Amino acid sequence: MKVTEDIRYIGVNDHQVDLFEGQFEVPLGMAYNSYVILDEKTAVMDTVDQNFGDEWMENLKAALGGRKPDYLVIQHMEPDHSANIVRFLSAYPDTTVVGNAKTFAMMEQFYSLPEDMKRQTVANGGTLELGKHTLTFVFAPMVHWPEVMVTYDSADKVLFSADAFGKFGANDVEDPEGWACEARRYYFGIVGKYGAQAQTLLKKAAGLDIQVICPLHGPVLSENLGYYLALYATWSSYRPETEGVFIAYTSVYGHTKAAALELAEMLREKGCPKVSVADLARDDIYECVEDGFRYSRMVLATTTYNAEIFPAMREFISHLTERGYQNRFVAFIENGTWAPTAAKCMKAMFEKSKNMTFAENTVTIKSALNGESRSALEALAEELCR
Ligand code: FEO
Repeated sequence: MKVTEDIRYIGVNDHQVDLFEGQFEVPLGMAYNSYVILDEKTAVMDTVDQNFGDEWMENLKAALGGRKPDYLVIQHMEPDHSANIVRFLSAYPDTTVVGNAKTFAMMEQFYSLPEDMKRQTVANGGTLELGKHTLTFVFAPMVHWPEVMVTYDSADKVLFSADAFGKFGANDVEDPEGWACEARRYYFGIVGKYGAQAQTLLKKAAGLDIQVICPLHGPVLSENLGYYLALYATWSSYRPETEGVFIAYTSVYGHTKAAALELAEMLREKGCPKVSVADLARDDIYECVEDGFRYSRMVLATTTYNAEIFPAMREFISHLTERGYQNRFVAFIENGTWAPTAAKCMKAMFEKSKNMTFAENTVTIKSALNGESRSALEALAEELCR
């Protein structure tokens, strides 16, 4: 597939993966992207996952059309992209592998490299001349590993963006929800903690004339780039994307769930622009994480459990706080039959989150909703719509 006159897509689609990176469900599969730049010299941009070496090598051979690859550029050492380096070198031992000092240190850790491997170590801002195309390497540490670099091709105005602007889902199936949903789940699940570093990368990108973004996952982006850049600017700055309320609950016998659903109904009746409800024990946890970051307000409802909180709620809050959760409005609903303490425990978990506002109204349910706790729920609904 042609990306531009001189750039070919040689990636693969994975519909066998059960959990991407050992934890993310990917019902639409996953794409591992790789590209070839054909100029006086040829450059291959990254490899693919270990299970797709045969297919990728075939794609590469076809794209090269009998030529030899001069360079293999490694932008990211995570094995979903680097797993075929050794295999590539056994077929093309004369190719020079291009990376930075951290890239090569990780490469030695992961793989048994040929002793005579040709390597070119580049600095931040370093360039590689292919002929008409000059590649400039821009380090993007922690988006998503410390060795990551992105690559700008000034001839075709292409940014090879590594994991940035990637999404879950293979490229040979249409995503019924469009780009943003699975890109948001990918961003917050994988890169979310590193908002500051993603912001730094966006600032560097703002100085470049970019017509095409070639990420390592998901589709090549060539139209309406402002849309994708604006979403990344929102996500990486921890600003809410959608005005509305996300209600996340856990429930043992259904009473806490009933309160969550009643609150959602109250909010809808009051005209709240968007209300989303999730069962933390049953819904995809990373869908919940993305919604926690997406909405301007969040309500957490859980039972008191072992004088603490229900495990799925603890796990969820940890997912948020370890990813730098901040700048949000959060309310609590607790349920306890003899000693409800969940609200206090939940609030304490946000201790390190910056710029948080907590609702004045905390709802305490003793076993099941009654007149008193229902009134408290009404008061919370009022406050959330203020
Ligand atoms: Fe797609 Fe961080 O690897």
